[in-house]
Amino acid sequence: MAFAPSDRLKRLPPYLFAEFERKRAVLEKQGKDIVNLGIGDPDQAPPKLLLDTLVAHLKDEGVHQYSPSQGTDEFRSAVAGFMKKRYGLSLENKEICLGVGSKELIAHLPLALTNPGDVVLCPEPGYPPYRSGTVFALAEPHVMPLKAERGFLPDLDAIPADVAKKAKILYVNYPNNPTGAVAPKAFYEKCVAFAKKWGCVVVSDEAYAELYYEQPPISFLEVPGARDVGIAVHSMTKTFSMAGWRVAWVCGNPEIVETVRGFKANCDSGQFMGFQKAVAKVLSEGTGDMAGIRDMYRKRRDAFVEGTRKLGWDVKAPEAGLYIWYPVPRKGATSMQFAEAALEAGVIMLPGSGFGAAAEGYMRVALTVTEDRIREAVRRLASVTL
Ligand SMILES: Cc1ncc(COP(=O)(O)O)c(C=O)c1O
Repeated sequence: MAFAPSDRLKRLPPYLFAEFERKRAVLEKQGKDIVNLGIGDPDQAPPKLLLDTLVAHLKDEGVHQYSPSQGTDEFRSAVAGFMKKRYGLSLENKEICLGVGSKELIAHLPLALTNPGDVVLCPEPGYPPYRSGTVFALAEPHVMPLKAERGFLPDLDAIPADVAKKAKILYVNYPNNPTGAVAPKAFYEKCVAFAKKWGCVVVSDEAYAELYYEQPPISFLEVPGARDVGIAVHSMTKTFSMAGWRVAWVCGNPEIVETVRGFKANCDSGQFMGFQKAVAKVLSEGTGDMAGIRDMYRKRRDAFVEGTRKLGWDVKAPEAGLYIWYPVPRKGATSMQFAEAALEAGVIMLPGSGFGAAAEGYMRVALTVTEDRIREAVRRLASVTL
């Protein structure tokens, strides 16, 4: 039988992280030791309270059936308590919807909020599902370049009026993957004004909100008017080292949240309810040792920054997030050529080109291995010949 993927799938490049994971598996099978600074997959254990609570509820009656797509009331009340404590926001349960990880939420949002031919404003470099979700919905991604000289904030005034008129979603992501930038309040105020002027929804991806090295970043939802026009996406993945568990939420404007819920009711259900009980417990009672985790990532960040500066590379320490974003350290080499040379030396790091064409010229390193392994990576990188 002749088989072809859909045209919309064919419009997307291979998912970069998966490609590098495949290369790593091949090299490791050949017995090579690889330091993996590629995917941002936290290497710590999740909070003990989470595991204990899950085990305690495994055999409960009534937790094994379908969960509502938007999550249980208990889960959403715990999210509301967490958002109140962290940001001072008062949210009702109807203003919160569970996600099976935030990747799913981000990739599905254009299907819920746009029509074919609408525009979605996507930062570049940016998390790939902003673009792929847009393409799946037959909407058009419009690239907003993030430049170092603008603090890696998009220039909303540079978006042409005919594009802004068709825009239905503005994606923003701070602390930013991959640049590590944090957004000031004034930027979020601009987003609110933009959304009100052009009638689009702001989706603020705050997956890295707890991994900061300076002041705790604010949420987009704290800015006056934000809840008229937008939602924030939060994830347990990076904060609590729970990548494989797949739990996240959107919160904010109740009509947008209800639209997301309505969409999700057609394509998934909530996760296992014993698991939601465990997540609720962690959100309301014990968030683990976040200060210790931040300190650990800070030491890893400093090990990479200091080590590579000694090699003469131009590497700046990010304010937040799990990544270091720095210019390709070889004149004339593309980011993919440098990533391949680093892999030859036994280190995976991602080429900027995987985050969009506007991101060529940069490399991304994830701080998800121990400080010792980061020092080992720097030793290996010293030997890269290119
Ligand atoms: C900016 C950003 N948003 C969202 C996610 C998705 O996280 P998850 O699906 O594990 O919640 C990631 C993962 O790397 C990310 O970098």
